[in-house]
Amino acid sequence: MIDQDGATPPSATCRVCGERVEEFLDLGQQPVSQRFRAPEDVSEEFTFRLAVGICTACTMVQLTSEVPREEMFHHDYPFISSTSRYMAQHFTRTAQHFLDTELTGNDPFVVEIGCNDGIMLRTIREAGVRHLGFEPSGRVAEMAAEAGVRVRTDFFEEVIAKEVAAAEGPADVVYGANTICHIPYLGSLFRGVDALLKPDGIFVFEEPYLGDVVEKTSFDQVYDEHFYLFSATSVRAAANRFGFELVDVERLPVHGGELRYTIARRGARKPSAAVEALLAEEAERDLTALTTLRAFADRVDGIRTELVAKLQELKAAGRRVVGYAATAKSATVLNYCGIGPDLVEYICDTTPAKHGLLSPGQRIPVRPHADFTSAHPDYALLFAWNHAAEVMAKESEFVSGGGRWLLYVPDVRVM
Ligand code: SAH
Ligand code: TMP
Ligand code: ZN
Repeated sequence: MIDQDGATPPSATCRVCGERVEEFLDLGQQPVSQRFRAPEDVSEEFTFRLAVGICTACTMVQLTSEVPREEMFHHDYPFISSTSRYMAQHFTRTAQHFLDTELTGNDPFVVEIGCNDGIMLRTIREAGVRHLGFEPSGRVAEMAAEAGVRVRTDFFEEVIAKEVAAAEGPADVVYGANTICHIPYLGSLFRGVDALLKPDGIFVFEEPYLGDVVEKTSFDQVYDEHFYLFSATSVRAAANRFGFELVDVERLPVHGGELRYTIARRGARKPSAAVEALLAEEAERDLTALTTLRAFADRVDGIRTELVAKLQELKAAGRRVVGYAATAKSATVLNYCGIGPDLVEYICDTTPAKHGLLSPGQRIPVRPHADFTSAHPDYALLFAWNHAAEVMAKESEFVSGGGRWLLYVPDVRVM
């Protein structure tokens, strides 16, 4: 395939339908986003080319290369869901909603894909409802088990789902949060859900929404783990392909803007008006059009230029800048923009497992949160912008003492 200007674009095929994927955003060579390394570790770092495309047939937005799942999700996977109190409340409400609506029958059963430390299932357990969490990352799975949650340290996939269905019977609800977009093998996933779900059961998942990413130019939602960036249009197509139907959608204010999808077997439930409304809205704003996505990529390029210029200006003026929260998202920003310890002195983070380590790729030191409060910098580059309200409320003394927040989403600005 030859481009208009004669260049040969990289070609990829869609992980859902096998048709051609058109690339629109290239974020360069990147490390595994949550692989923090000891300063003395000089072994060669695993890297891959992080680029995003859209399927010309089914509209699924996806990475054009795939990082092996064991490189990302292993015993020491450092992301712990309950770090955010706001998210803990969100998942308590989610669990309560299931308990009140879907789990009222005789001996209900709920399965969660990617339960992490049990942030959602602990409420289900407290209610005495039968449940099972899938969590391949050993350390967080152990935390879930310690909280009394039943957990299997496995990746969810067709074969294991069938095993569970045979041993424990069908589920009323299969749920996933910030996990389903991590799973490239959607065919195996949907066949597993098919094997596991009651005839009128539901598969519910909530993931970063393409609509928010484009609207806010939140390009740092793109990293190794986020293989897909879903929209109602693409999820409906995928569900239909595997014998299911998209029956509800709900926008969520978490993680910078997500969409919760409810999927049922074809004909089992009446689709809500919200589905048609959102599909119409996505069509109206040309969300899955290449022109829209290329304009988004141009804005991303602009943010890089401005952010680097701002950091260089602050450095020249002798200002101290530190990063706030060593998020997975920060790996994309730092490595795409080429921002290292010369521009960002260190990154503070509340996760003990990350302390004393270096950020992937750019090797910026990660330090405890106490180092932030004990010697406030002049500027804090907020990598946890998706938790801005929670963070800014917590750090009011930083600002009252003259500190400033530096943000890059939706554009580069000082607050
Ligand atoms: N649901 C939690 C955790 C999200 S992080 C929350 O929303 O906060 C994603 C989690 O999914 C990680 O803990 C990771 O280990 C797990 N995961 C990744 N691939 C998976 C798969 N194929 N099956 C089940 N869990 C998976
Ligand atoms: P994420 O939820 O955006 O992926 O961010 C998780 C990381 O951010 C995790 O390493 C903990 C860190 N973090 C802080 O250091 N302080 C905070 O107040 C919050 C909310 C997160
Ligand atoms: Zn496709």
